[in-house]
Amino acid sequence: MATSREHFSSKLGFILAAAGSAVGIGNLVGFPVAATKNGGGAFLIIYAAFVVFICLPLMLAEMGLGRRAQHSPYKAYSELGAGLKRWRLAGWLATITPFMIATFYMVITVWIFGYLFQSVTGNLATISADGYFSDFIKNYNFIWYLIAVTLVVNVILVGGVRQGIERASKILMPALFIMLLLLVGFVLSLDNAVAGLKFYLVPDFSKITGSVINGALAQAFFSLSLGMGILITYGSYFRRSDDIVTSGKLVALTDTAVAFTAGLMTLPAIFAIYPETNPESLSESSVSMIFSFFPKIFLELSVSIGYVAASIAASVFFLLAFVAAITSLVSIIEVPTSSLMEKRQMSRKRALAIMASLLTLLTVVAATSFGLIPIFTEFTSYAGSSKSVFDVIYDVFYDTILPLNGLLLCLFVRYRWRRSQLTAELSEGNSDYTNSWFARYINFSIGTFIPVILALVFANTVLTKFF
Ligand code: PHE
Repeated sequence: MATSREHFSSKLGFILAAAGSAVGIGNLVGFPVAATKNGGGAFLIIYAAFVVFICLPLMLAEMGLGRRAQHSPYKAYSELGAGLKRWRLAGWLATITPFMIATFYMVITVWIFGYLFQSVTGNLATISADGYFSDFIKNYNFIWYLIAVTLVVNVILVGGVRQGIERASKILMPALFIMLLLLVGFVLSLDNAVAGLKFYLVPDFSKITGSVINGALAQAFFSLSLGMGILITYGSYFRRSDDIVTSGKLVALTDTAVAFTAGLMTLPAIFAIYPETNPESLSESSVSMIFSFFPKIFLELSVSIGYVAASIAASVFFLLAFVAAITSLVSIIEVPTSSLMEKRQMSRKRALAIMASLLTLLTVVAATSFGLIPIFTEFTSYAGSSKSVFDVIYDVFYDTILPLNGLLLCLFVRYRWRRSQLTAELSEGNSDYTNSWFARYINFSIGTFIPVILALVFANTVLTKFF
């Protein structure tokens, strides 16, 4: 079959789409809270080092592999891997992982949409009430929100690479930056905001432990959308003449800058409203921050700025989170969709219809595993506690398989595809790359310590999570 693969129309289109994937809920809430709890500036330094020295090489390898193969992960691994079983397995994992992660991300996005809807319709006081969130997740109303989110994602994806993903990113990403800056400006103008900045930025190296370091790596890895086949797929939509290396650096920079900037909003907001907050007591979980803590902060604001203004601020926040989540969801659903299109030579519409149905089904299972349906809620048990379907998906795919996918990528580049091929691929569109110290660093790190670190993370997770 003559392949006329669609490509992004410009480098900017690619950068915005990949940044759209990378910038997500993890940046807005996960990162700022983790930084504040774990040593402020000290955490920021470690995180930035992981982005540059570990994640960026992996990111460029994924993009390069995708562009070389001109296929999504399944076919990319099997073709460049000469059909060997072990590489086909790597390709299969890089296709199923995004599908499974999409379900838990979808559940959270659906809740965000619910909260957005409630804030816009004047119900900020309702969603801020104690216990609202635990009732909210045990209510079938989520189905309406699920339909809405599924529609938005599919309307974007059905347009394909240029008219869908690229066009949406070109509108949504600038909107996201503007909303973020507006909220930062607003929060910093509140009294007492500076106290939050102190906890966020002043380094405290005594907080850095093994598990903090491990957490920083996991956060950086997830935030840059690694190990999910996304960058292989987006790389395959990159034109031969485009410069992957510079684009990859810009995507990593944008993602890190957004995470950093989000901290300038999140922490000062918390401390402006609750000046006595002890950073240690902040919840580690993004979910409880977004849904239980933030609405209360916005409601408290209404004492000084009035209910309507507070509702507007809350709506902008949830819209920001929604936009960040949608562009990530689009990228992650594109992976299994494009694989299906390739493997079965199916039209985009048909592949999307199948994918959307399967995903909706699994999302319902995951969303009802918070108490609505007992067999999904008490699905299984390991490591001494009972686990829901949502927990299992999270533990298996997010915590365990993501680092494994990174490890397989390194082994693939080292032993099958060869590092000289990676260099040749990354040099197209950037002729200075071939003999640069950066190329040497990437080849060295991907062949040596990065896979070792990922193997250790993987082994540690398996041993501590499941036994
Ligand atoms: N990078 C996203 C975040 O930080 C994670 C993600 C990407 C999730 C793509 C799903 C799909 O939230």
